[in-house]
Amino acid sequence: MEIKANGERLWNTLMEMAKIGPGECGGNRRLALTDEDIEGRKLFQKWAADAGCTIRQDTMGNIFARRDGKSRDKAPVLSGSHLDTQPAGGRFDGILGVLGALEAVRSLNDHGIETVSPVEIVVWTNEEGARFAPSMMGSGVFAGIYEEDEIYKNKDPEGVTVEDELRRTSQIGDVTCKSFPIKAYYELHIEQGPVLENENTSIGVVTGGQGSVWTHITLYGQGSHAGTTPMEYRKDPMMGASRIITELREIIRSHSAAVGTVGRLETYPASINTIPGSVFFTVDTRHPNEKILMQINQDLKKTVNSVCSAEGLENDFKNIVINPTVEFHQDCVSNVRQSADSLGYSHRDIVSGAGHDACHVNHVAPTGMIFIPCEGGLSHDEAENTTPEHVSAGADVLLNSVMASAGA
Ligand code: GLV
Ligand code: MN
Ligand code: MN
Repeated sequence: MEIKANGERLWNTLMEMAKIGPGECGGNRRLALTDEDIEGRKLFQKWAADAGCTIRQDTMGNIFARRDGKSRDKAPVLSGSHLDTQPAGGRFDGILGVLGALEAVRSLNDHGIETVSPVEIVVWTNEEGARFAPSMMGSGVFAGIYEEDEIYKNKDPEGVTVEDELRRTSQIGDVTCKSFPIKAYYELHIEQGPVLENENTSIGVVTGGQGSVWTHITLYGQGSHAGTTPMEYRKDPMMGASRIITELREIIRSHSAAVGTVGRLETYPASINTIPGSVFFTVDTRHPNEKILMQINQDLKKTVNSVCSAEGLENDFKNIVINPTVEFHQDCVSNVRQSADSLGYSHRDIVSGAGHDACHVNHVAPTGMIFIPCEGGLSHDEAENTTPEHVSAGADVLLNSVMASAGA
């Protein structure tokens, strides 16, 4: 039998969390392992403890809040997401998955339901990757995709390492960060795209995720005076970057369903009257088909080389992250679909355009995801929004999917 979560309580909890690290336009700024992120984590831990959970933390700072089941030895059902945000992020990306799982635990308490398997709420460290690359860092180490030692050395743009910040903020727990037997993992998330809203559908049953490649490109030319250097004498990396970026759009447009983004562009030494000596920029490319994604990456590399030889530049081209495409576990996908169906919510299958911790956890546990619509499909922007009704429907589907796997 289906039970309902308390959608109003979840909405209020989301709004309470959104008070921490407010942005300038109604969203949030809680970059991974900053004081604001830690304040959000502490508030979550208080709420989870109040709901009767036992909390532990691993050496990547991932937080697990456990509600025991009838059988203490059974593998737990996990559900969660992340509390860190983009620099000008929204109130729901990630937060909904964590607080939705908290709501599932609170609802189980309200209904006096003892599940057979334990249920654990999880907060993954640095999902966004906006401060420290790669994204989905905590879940990546957990799933054995990244080595903790290597990840500890990664630096933010100010040169502060992941380890420095984990230590400064006392987020290194006493449990080794590595996967353990998990019955199932569910993540509730806003869609971050326009499909569900356009189709007036309440629930996205996520069947998998597209692949992505993150690339760091540095172009080296010759720094010089902007007023005295005739155009034909220049080796200007900014001109090279602009040609490459324009060409990137052509490459992307030649493959339907491909997307490509230059999100960071930095010149050195960044002075109005100096031809830059070097230019650094990032490229994020994605496609649901891995072969096509790698083709796009090859085409981009070729373009960088040919533009550099035409402009007299050197380059450094580094793929810093390659996330393969993901297919979620049939049992979890069908539990989500079945829950939405039984609850009477309209639903459709959907492939995630964004990366999620679920994509990494999928390597070590049966995994599924639930999407709800967001306003105008906007995300990674302070304007990101959804409605209490969508949040409530998502929480109901999450609760019933968790119960289906945990045995109630
Ligand atoms: C995570 O937000 C991603 O898709 O990059
Ligand atoms: Mn997210
Ligand atoms: Mn995000």
